[in-house]
Amino acid sequence: MKAITVEPRKPGTARLEDIPEPDPREGSVLVEAIAVGVCGTDVEIAEGKYGWAPPGADRLVLGHESLGRVIDPGLASSFKKGDLVVGIVRRPDPVPCPSCAVGEWDMCRNGKYTERGIKEIHGFMSERWRIEPEYAIKVDPTLGILGVLLEPTTVIAKALEQVAFIGRRSFWEPRTVLVTGAGPIGLLAALAAKMYGLEVHVLDRVEDGPKPAIVRDLGATYHSGSVTAIGFEPDAIIECTGVGKVIADSIQAIGASGTVCLTGVGHGGIVSAAACADIAAASVLKNNVIVGSVNANKRHWYKAGNLLARADRNWLCRLITRRERPENFMRALERTPDDIKVIVQFSEP
Ligand code: BGC
Repeated sequence: MKAITVEPRKPGTARLEDIPEPDPREGSVLVEAIAVGVCGTDVEIAEGKYGWAPPGADRLVLGHESLGRVIDPGLASSFKKGDLVVGIVRRPDPVPCPSCAVGEWDMCRNGKYTERGIKEIHGFMSERWRIEPEYAIKVDPTLGILGVLLEPTTVIAKALEQVAFIGRRSFWEPRTVLVTGAGPIGLLAALAAKMYGLEVHVLDRVEDGPKPAIVRDLGATYHSGSVTAIGFEPDAIIECTGVGKVIADSIQAIGASGTVCLTGVGHGGIVSAAACADIAAASVLKNNVIVGSVNANKRHWYKAGNLLARADRNWLCRLITRRERPENFMRALERTPDDIKVIVQFSEP
Protein backbone atom coordinates (compact mmCIF):
# COMPACT_ATOMS: atom_id res chain seq x y z
CA MET A 1 0.00 0.00 0.00
CA LYS A 2 1.02 3.62 -0.46
CA ALA A 3 2.16 5.63 2.56
CA ILE A 4 3.80 8.99 3.22
CA THR A 5 6.90 8.35 5.29
CA VAL A 6 9.85 10.32 6.60
CA GLU A 7 13.20 9.62 8.22
CA PRO A 8 12.83 11.71 11.39
CA ARG A 9 15.54 14.31 12.10
CA LYS A 10 16.70 14.21 8.45
CA PRO A 11 15.30 17.10 6.40
CA GLY A 12 14.09 16.38 2.88
CA THR A 13 13.46 12.66 3.42
CA ALA A 14 9.64 12.66 3.15
CA ARG A 15 8.32 10.53 0.28
CA LEU A 16 5.30 8.56 -0.94
CA GLU A 17 6.31 4.90 -1.03
CA ASP A 18 5.01 1.34 -1.00
CA ILE A 19 5.05 -0.27 2.42
CA PRO A 20 3.63 -3.58 3.70
CA GLU A 21 -0.02 -3.76 4.82
CA PRO A 22 -0.49 -2.66 8.48
CA ASP A 23 0.77 -5.13 11.06
CA PRO A 24 -2.14 -6.88 12.93
CA ARG A 25 -0.21 -6.12 16.13
CA GLU A 26 -1.08 -2.43 15.57
CA GLY A 27 -4.73 -3.22 16.35
CA SER A 28 -7.65 -5.48 15.49
CA VAL A 29 -9.66 -2.78 13.67
CA LEU A 30 -8.68 -2.34 10.01
CA VAL A 31 -9.43 1.08 8.56
CA GLU A 32 -9.31 2.54 5.06
CA ALA A 33 -7.92 6.08 5.12
CA ILE A 34 -10.21 8.88 3.95
CA ALA A 35 -8.16 11.92 4.87
CA VAL A 36 -5.38 13.15 7.12
CA GLY A 37 -5.00 16.75 8.23
CA VAL A 38 -1.63 18.46 8.09
CA CYS A 39 -0.45 20.63 10.98
CA GLY A 40 2.67 22.49 12.08
CA THR A 41 3.99 19.36 13.82
CA ASP A 42 3.94 17.44 10.50
CA VAL A 43 5.80 20.27 8.80
CA GLU A 44 8.42 20.24 11.59
CA ILE A 45 8.84 16.46 11.26
CA ALA A 46 9.23 16.76 7.47
CA GLU A 47 11.80 19.51 8.00
CA GLY A 48 13.81 17.17 10.23
CA LYS A 49 13.21 19.15 13.44
CA TYR A 50 11.00 16.71 15.40
CA GLY A 51 9.76 13.12 15.41
CA TRP A 52 10.94 9.63 16.25
CA ALA A 53 10.71 6.42 14.14
CA PRO A 54 9.38 3.24 15.78
CA PRO A 55 12.08 1.24 17.63
CA GLY A 56 14.23 -0.64 15.12
CA ALA A 57 12.88 1.31 12.11
CA ASP A 58 14.45 4.18 10.17
CA ARG A 59 11.25 5.67 8.82
CA LEU A 60 7.98 6.85 10.34
CA VAL A 61 4.58 6.95 8.62
CA LEU A 62 3.49 10.58 9.05
CA GLY A 63 0.07 11.90 10.09
CA HIS A 64 -1.90 12.18 13.31
CA GLU A 65 -5.11 13.99 12.27
CA SER A 66 -6.93 10.97 10.93
CA LEU A 67 -10.27 10.08 9.40
CA GLY A 68 -11.05 6.65 8.03
CA ARG A 69 -13.73 4.07 7.32
CA VAL A 70 -13.77 0.70 9.09
CA ILE A 71 -13.17 -2.13 6.60
CA ASP A 72 -12.85 -4.90 9.18
CA PRO A 73 -14.00 -4.27 12.77
CA GLY A 74 -12.20 -7.40 14.03
CA LEU A 75 -13.63 -9.71 16.67
CA ALA A 76 -13.55 -7.68 19.88
CA SER A 77 -15.01 -4.32 18.91
CA SER A 78 -18.36 -2.58 18.76
CA PHE A 79 -17.54 -1.01 15.39
CA LYS A 80 -19.32 -1.93 12.21
CA LYS A 81 -18.00 -2.11 8.68
CA GLY A 82 -18.42 1.36 7.14
CA ASP A 83 -18.25 3.32 10.43
CA LEU A 84 -16.31 6.58 10.21
CA VAL A 85 -13.55 6.64 12.82
CA VAL A 86 -10.58 8.69 13.96
CA GLY A 87 -7.60 7.39 15.91
CA ILE A 88 -6.43 8.72 19.28
CA VAL A 89 -2.88 10.04 18.88
CA ARG A 90 -1.11 9.33 22.18
CA ARG A 91 -0.51 6.03 23.98
CA PRO A 92 0.36 5.86 27.70
CA ASP A 93 3.95 5.30 28.75
CA PRO A 94 4.70 1.70 29.72
CA VAL A 95 5.96 2.40 33.27
CA PRO A 96 3.24 3.82 33.71
CA CYS A 97 3.52 7.22 35.40
CA PRO A 98 0.59 8.10 37.70
CA SER A 99 -1.13 10.19 34.98
CA CYS A 100 -0.89 7.47 32.34
CA ALA A 101 -1.97 4.87 34.92
CA VAL A 102 -5.33 6.66 35.26
CA GLY A 103 -5.82 7.23 31.52
CA GLU A 104 -4.58 10.85 31.53
CA TRP A 105 -1.80 10.20 29.02
CA ASP A 106 -2.07 13.81 27.86
CA MET A 107 -0.53 14.75 31.23
CA CYS A 108 2.27 12.11 31.02
CA ARG A 109 4.96 12.88 33.59
CA ASN A 110 7.96 10.90 32.39
CA GLY A 111 7.87 11.73 28.66
CA LYS A 112 7.91 8.04 27.70
CA TYR A 113 4.49 8.25 26.01
CA THR A 114 4.29 7.42 22.30
CA GLU A 115 2.28 9.23 19.60
CA ARG A 116 1.02 8.01 16.24
CA GLY A 117 2.75 9.74 13.38
CA ILE A 118 4.98 11.70 15.76
CA LYS A 119 6.76 9.58 18.35
CA GLU A 120 7.66 5.92 17.83
CA ILE A 121 4.37 4.66 16.34
CA HIS A 122 3.37 4.87 12.70
CA GLY A 123 0.81 7.51 11.82
CA PHE A 124 -2.24 7.53 9.60
CA MET A 125 -0.92 8.72 6.20
CA SER A 126 -1.24 5.29 4.62
CA GLU A 127 -3.99 3.82 2.46
CA ARG A 128 -4.95 1.50 5.31
CA TRP A 129 -4.16 1.56 9.03
CA ARG A 130 -4.95 -0.52 12.06
CA ILE A 131 -5.98 0.59 15.51
CA GLU A 132 -6.82 -0.91 18.91
CA PRO A 133 -10.64 -0.62 19.37
CA GLU A 134 -10.23 1.33 22.61
CA TYR A 135 -8.23 4.02 20.79
CA ALA A 136 -10.67 4.43 17.89
CA ILE A 137 -13.40 7.07 18.19
CA LYS A 138 -16.60 6.85 16.16
CA VAL A 139 -17.41 10.00 14.21
CA ASP A 140 -20.92 11.33 13.61
CA PRO A 141 -21.54 10.04 10.05
CA THR A 142 -23.20 13.30 9.02
CA LEU A 143 -19.86 15.07 9.49
CA GLY A 144 -18.34 13.20 6.54
CA ILE A 145 -14.95 14.67 5.59
CA LEU A 146 -15.30 17.25 8.40
CA GLY A 147 -14.47 14.44 10.84
CA VAL A 148 -10.83 15.13 9.95
CA LEU A 149 -11.14 18.24 12.18
CA LEU A 150 -11.71 16.09 15.26
CA GLU A 151 -8.09 15.79 16.38
CA PRO A 152 -7.40 19.55 16.44
CA THR A 153 -10.75 19.97 18.24
CA THR A 154 -9.52 17.61 21.00
CA VAL A 155 -6.59 19.94 21.64
CA ILE A 156 -9.09 22.76 22.20
CA ALA A 157 -11.48 20.62 24.28
CA LYS A 158 -8.57 19.98 26.65
CA ALA A 159 -7.34 23.59 26.67
CA LEU A 160 -10.79 25.00 27.52
CA GLU A 161 -11.26 22.36 30.19
CA GLN A 162 -7.97 23.48 31.76
CA VAL A 163 -9.14 27.11 31.77
CA ALA A 164 -12.46 26.10 33.34
CA PHE A 165 -10.73 23.98 36.02
CA ILE A 166 -8.40 26.86 36.89
CA GLY A 167 -11.36 29.25 37.07
CA ARG A 168 -12.80 27.26 39.98
CA ARG A 169 -10.02 28.40 42.33
CA SER A 170 -12.00 31.59 43.05
CA PHE A 171 -15.25 33.30 42.15
CA TRP A 172 -14.87 33.77 38.39
CA GLU A 173 -17.59 34.16 35.80
CA PRO A 174 -15.79 34.63 32.47
CA ARG A 175 -17.54 36.70 29.83
CA THR A 176 -14.91 37.55 27.24
CA VAL A 177 -12.30 35.36 25.61
CA LEU A 178 -9.57 36.38 23.22
CA VAL A 179 -8.15 33.80 20.82
CA THR A 180 -4.79 34.72 19.30
CA GLY A 181 -4.20 33.19 15.87
CA ALA A 182 -6.92 32.40 13.33
CA GLY A 183 -5.44 29.09 12.16
CA PRO A 184 -7.39 25.84 12.59
CA ILE A 185 -6.72 25.60 16.34
CA GLY A 186 -7.65 29.26 16.91
CA LEU A 187 -10.84 29.05 14.85
CA LEU A 188 -11.89 25.82 16.57
CA ALA A 189 -11.19 27.50 19.93
CA ALA A 190 -13.41 30.40 18.86
CA LEU A 191 -16.14 27.96 17.83
CA ALA A 192 -15.97 26.09 21.15
CA ALA A 193 -15.93 29.31 23.22
CA LYS A 194 -18.91 30.60 21.27
CA MET A 195 -20.77 27.34 21.91
CA TYR A 196 -20.05 27.83 25.63
CA GLY A 197 -21.85 31.18 25.40
CA LEU A 198 -18.84 33.50 25.70
CA GLU A 199 -18.18 36.78 23.90
CA VAL A 200 -15.41 35.79 21.52
CA HIS A 201 -12.66 37.92 19.98
CA VAL A 202 -10.08 36.55 17.53
CA LEU A 203 -6.82 38.29 16.69
CA ASP A 204 -4.64 37.47 13.71
CA ARG A 205 -2.05 39.41 11.74
CA VAL A 206 -3.91 39.19 8.39
CA GLU A 207 -6.33 41.91 7.36
CA ASP A 208 -7.87 40.18 4.34
CA GLY A 209 -8.36 36.67 2.94
CA PRO A 210 -10.97 34.26 4.33
CA LYS A 211 -10.21 34.54 8.07
CA PRO A 212 -11.93 37.83 9.05
CA ALA A 213 -15.23 36.76 7.43
CA ILE A 214 -15.06 33.27 8.98
CA VAL A 215 -14.65 34.86 12.42
CA ARG A 216 -17.47 37.36 11.86
CA ASP A 217 -19.83 34.68 10.54
CA LEU A 218 -19.34 32.85 13.82
CA GLY A 219 -20.68 35.93 15.61
CA ALA A 220 -17.23 36.79 16.97
CA THR A 221 -15.16 39.98 16.62
CA TYR A 222 -12.06 40.03 14.43
CA HIS A 223 -8.98 42.08 15.35
CA SER A 224 -5.68 42.50 13.54
CA GLY A 225 -2.63 44.18 15.01
CA SER A 226 -1.32 44.00 18.54
CA VAL A 227 -2.95 42.22 21.50
CA THR A 228 -2.27 45.29 23.64
CA ALA A 229 -4.50 47.39 21.32
CA ILE A 230 -7.69 45.30 21.55
CA GLY A 231 -9.28 47.81 23.92
CA PHE A 232 -10.46 45.52 26.74
CA GLU A 233 -9.04 43.05 29.27
CA PRO A 234 -10.12 39.50 28.36
CA ASP A 235 -11.14 37.06 31.09
CA ALA A 236 -9.29 34.30 29.26
CA ILE A 237 -6.84 34.19 26.37
CA ILE A 238 -6.33 31.07 24.28
CA GLU A 239 -2.93 31.60 22.67
CA CYS A 240 -2.65 29.67 19.41
CA THR A 241 0.32 31.30 17.64
CA GLY A 242 3.40 30.32 19.66
CA VAL A 243 4.88 33.72 18.72
CA GLY A 244 6.94 35.29 21.53
CA LYS A 245 5.62 38.84 21.12
CA VAL A 246 1.98 37.69 21.06
CA ILE A 247 2.56 35.58 24.18
CA ALA A 248 4.28 38.42 26.08
CA ASP A 249 1.53 40.88 25.06
CA SER A 250 -1.16 38.36 26.10
CA ILE A 251 0.35 38.11 29.56
CA GLN A 252 0.25 41.92 29.85
CA ALA A 253 -3.28 42.24 28.41
CA ILE A 254 -5.11 39.51 30.36
CA GLY A 255 -7.66 40.75 32.90
CA ALA A 256 -7.22 40.33 36.66
CA SER A 257 -7.77 36.70 37.81
CA GLY A 258 -7.75 35.61 34.17
CA THR A 259 -5.96 32.70 32.54
CA VAL A 260 -3.69 32.64 29.51
CA CYS A 261 -3.69 29.17 27.99
CA LEU A 262 -0.75 28.50 25.69
CA THR A 263 -1.34 25.95 22.93
CA GLY A 264 1.17 27.04 20.27
CA VAL A 265 4.69 25.64 20.12
CA GLY A 266 7.14 28.31 19.01
CA HIS A 267 10.86 28.91 19.11
CA GLY A 268 12.74 32.02 20.07
CA GLY A 269 15.60 31.45 22.48
CA ILE A 270 16.01 32.48 26.07
CA VAL A 271 14.06 35.46 27.52
CA SER A 272 16.20 37.94 29.44
CA ALA A 273 15.90 37.67 33.23
CA ALA A 274 14.56 41.25 33.43
CA ALA A 275 11.80 40.57 30.86
CA CYS A 276 10.93 37.40 32.73
CA ALA A 277 10.58 39.36 35.99
CA ASP A 278 8.25 41.90 34.29
CA ILE A 279 6.05 39.10 32.95
CA ALA A 280 6.00 37.46 36.37
CA ALA A 281 5.14 40.73 38.10
CA ALA A 282 2.16 41.27 35.79
CA SER A 283 0.90 37.78 36.65
CA VAL A 284 1.48 38.13 40.40
CA LEU A 285 -0.28 41.47 40.74
CA LYS A 286 -3.36 40.28 38.81
CA ASN A 287 -3.55 36.69 40.13
CA ASN A 288 -3.13 35.35 36.60
CA VAL A 289 -2.48 31.78 35.60
CA ILE A 290 -0.40 30.98 32.54
CA VAL A 291 -0.96 27.37 31.63
CA GLY A 292 0.45 25.24 28.85
CA SER A 293 -1.79 22.60 27.30
CA VAL A 294 -0.89 19.77 24.92
CA ASN A 295 -2.57 16.68 23.53
CA ALA A 296 -5.84 15.19 24.78
CA ASN A 297 -7.15 12.14 26.61
CA LYS A 298 -10.24 10.06 25.85
CA ARG A 299 -12.59 12.43 27.69
CA HIS A 300 -11.48 15.26 25.40
CA TRP A 301 -11.94 13.11 22.29
CA TYR A 302 -15.48 12.40 23.43
CA LYS A 303 -16.18 16.08 24.14
CA ALA A 304 -14.63 17.16 20.81
CA GLY A 305 -16.77 14.64 18.91
CA ASN A 306 -19.93 16.08 20.51
CA LEU A 307 -18.82 19.63 19.83
CA LEU A 308 -18.16 19.03 16.14
CA ALA A 309 -21.39 17.09 15.75
CA ARG A 310 -23.33 20.15 17.01
CA ALA A 311 -21.42 22.69 14.88
CA ASP A 312 -22.68 24.33 11.70
CA ARG A 313 -21.43 22.20 8.82
CA ASN A 314 -21.25 25.11 6.36
CA TRP A 315 -19.03 27.06 8.74
CA LEU A 316 -16.79 24.03 9.44
CA CYS A 317 -16.41 23.41 5.68
CA ARG A 318 -14.71 26.80 5.31
CA LEU A 319 -11.87 25.66 7.60
CA ILE A 320 -10.71 23.06 5.05
CA THR A 321 -9.17 25.34 2.46
CA ARG A 322 -7.24 22.79 0.38
CA ARG A 323 -7.32 19.06 -0.37
CA GLU A 324 -4.29 17.38 -1.91
CA ARG A 325 -3.89 13.86 -3.32
CA PRO A 326 -1.29 11.66 -1.58
CA GLU A 327 1.07 11.98 -4.58
CA ASN A 328 1.03 15.77 -4.02
CA PHE A 329 1.69 15.56 -0.29
CA MET A 330 4.68 17.94 -0.58
CA ARG A 331 2.25 20.65 -1.64
CA ALA A 332 0.15 19.90 1.44
CA LEU A 333 3.20 20.61 3.62
CA GLU A 334 3.59 24.09 2.11
CA ARG A 335 1.58 26.95 3.57
CA THR A 336 0.00 29.77 1.60
CA PRO A 337 -1.30 32.84 3.50
CA ASP A 338 -4.97 31.92 2.94
CA ASP A 339 -4.58 28.29 4.04
CA ILE A 340 -6.41 27.27 7.18
CA LYS A 341 -6.54 23.45 7.24
CA VAL A 342 -4.95 21.53 4.39
CA ILE A 343 -5.75 17.82 4.16
CA VAL A 344 -4.31 14.90 2.25
CA GLN A 345 -7.27 13.00 0.85
CA PHE A 346 -6.88 9.26 0.25
CA SER A 347 -10.48 8.33 -0.65
CA GLU A 348 -14.02 9.69 -0.75
CA PRO A 349 -15.91 9.87 2.60
C1 BGC B 1 -0.55 17.02 18.36
C2 BGC B 1 -0.58 16.49 19.78
C3 BGC B 1 0.82 16.12 20.22
C4 BGC B 1 1.77 17.29 20.03
C5 BGC B 1 3.19 17.02 20.47
C6 BGC B 1 0.47 18.12 18.24
O1 BGC B 1 0.56 18.53 16.91
O2 BGC B 1 -1.83 17.51 18.02
O3 BGC B 1 -1.41 15.36 19.83
O4 BGC B 1 0.79 15.72 21.57
O5 BGC B 1 1.75 17.68 18.68
O6 BGC B 1 3.82 15.95 19.84
